[in-house]
Amino acid sequence: MVVAAPVPRFLAKLANQLWPDDGETQTRFTQALLDPQPLPTGIAWCRPRPEPLPFPVLPALTWQPSWVDRLAPDVQPGRHPLHNRGYYYCLDMSSVFAGAVLGAIAVAQPVVIDLCAAPGGKSVLAWRYLQPGLLIANEPIGKRVRTLLSNWRRCRIPGVVVQQDPATLAQRLAHTADVVIVDAPCSGQSLLAKGVKNPGCFHPRIVRWNRQRQRKILAHAVQLLKPGGYLAYMTCTYSLEENEANGQWLLTHFPDLQPIAVPLLAAYQSPWADFPCYRLWPQTGEGAGAFTCLWQLQLAGPEAQVDWEWLQQVNMSAAPVEIQINSDETGGGENAHDKVKDRPPDGDSNEPSTDDFPSADESPAGGGGHVLE
Ligand SMILES: C[S@@+](CC[C@H](N)C(=O)[O-])C[C@H]1O[C@@H](n2cnc3c(N)ncnc32)[C@H](O)[C@@H]1O
Repeated sequence: MVVAAPVPRFLAKLANQLWPDDGETQTRFTQALLDPQPLPTGIAWCRPRPEPLPFPVLPALTWQPSWVDRLAPDVQPGRHPLHNRGYYYCLDMSSVFAGAVLGAIAVAQPVVIDLCAAPGGKSVLAWRYLQPGLLIANEPIGKRVRTLLSNWRRCRIPGVVVQQDPATLAQRLAHTADVVIVDAPCSGQSLLAKGVKNPGCFHPRIVRWNRQRQRKILAHAVQLLKPGGYLAYMTCTYSLEENEANGQWLLTHFPDLQPIAVPLLAAYQSPWADFPCYRLWPQTGEGAGAFTCLWQLQLAGPEAQVDWEWLQQVNMSAAPVEIQINSDETGGGENAHDKVKDRPPDGDSNEPSTDDFPSADESPAGGGGHVLE
């Protein structure tokens, strides 16, 4: 007889908080994390699809854009030579789900800032969905910005890569963005559905600490928006605090920010919020899990101009970078290991630590010498 593993205390608590009257869903959810099953992979085409296709393709999901293919879990697109040649970017289908909110934005040649960008999946989605006039990908952590740069080079994404604290960006590029993407650093609970260990990810202190740093990033993101600009907020974690509660926090603290419904995701509406926001759950087998929502700054007023001189100084995308093989999401570049470094201190503080930001020796050298591509 197979005996099911006991459900860890904080995971059981979360399952009960989410579905208090539905033991069966609680069990399916916890089993998806304790006994993870292989999940389909997505590939976002960055160059024209070759004929014939190199992989068998699964039927498309309703929220899947035409330039993404869904592959069976046993296909390994990261090992195919077309990957190294930049034909596509591999990503979890949950990322495709979260990025689907970008499809609801209709702005010609927008200025897009991807505030938490490494390893680069949402930047690829933003590039394909929005055809930006200017795409800026920001990643404050030094090791991860190198992976981001490598992916940008491989996939030939046109734009600018910077390594900045969101507070600095909010100051230098205030009110310039048509779209800001916050794919926030989070407690990473969905890593378990991918078979990656993430100890402590359900602990209330870890969740609280993440919620606080997400709010800081969100506040800077709002400062970046032009009047009429859009904010896309998403995470790959399950806790209510880091998702719906942060949406509620936006509603309370930024009254000019309106939640925008995304009809394509209507069937995924979160029942834990009374504003439009969407959830994908691991027990559906569609992906490891995601939360996503879209906001618009409904405010009249002048927009600011991009400070091109400063952007040129901090742009890293023209600098040489070592090409890394298999370094996109499903190729081992996801945030599992960096999350460990992002852990809050053992003490009781739930304040974000300055470890979130690059140390002086991780900063881009001198700022000079880079030119916009
Ligand atoms: C969930 S991952 C982003 C994944 C990425 N958007 C993609 O689709 O490939 C969150 C990222 O935020 C970065 N990060 C950590 N602290 C941050 C902060 N204070 N501000 C902005 N980004 C931060 C992490 O290093 C990590 O690369």
